[in-house]
Amino acid sequence: MSTDPFITLVPRKMSASELARAIRLDIASEIDATNLYQAHIDATDDERAKAVLAHIRDEEKEHIAEFIQLLALLDPTQAQELQTAPGNIAQILSEGEVEPTAAGETPRATWPRGQLTVGSLMGKP
Ligand SMILES: [Fe+2]
Repeated sequence: MSTDPFITLVPRKMSASELARAIRLDIASEIDATNLYQAHIDATDDERAKAVLAHIRDEEKEHIAEFIQLLALLDPTQAQELQTAPGNIAQILSEGEVEPTAAGETPRATWPRGQLTVGSLMGKP
């Protein structure tokens, strides 16, 4: 299955909003490619294929980062969220205790109920 890059073909250039939406689709495609290549690495014992796939996977990670930076230039709200996200995550991790997980599982932060809310993460009571 391939992605249709445009909902419809239009005889004009994209608006700024449409361009930002297109870049978000590009980010999603790069993430999907990264997961696909990792799945293929995991599914083979051919070391040559693993090496090439890992190289390409890592290039996709670079593309993801570059597209995110481009999106930040095009979408000021997204740029603001990228700036505040590290602080939000640091707050989550400092206020909660991170449960130990088995290899490959996503860590989950826990905290006493009522102490951390979406509003508190945004600096609001
Ligand atoms: Fe790519």
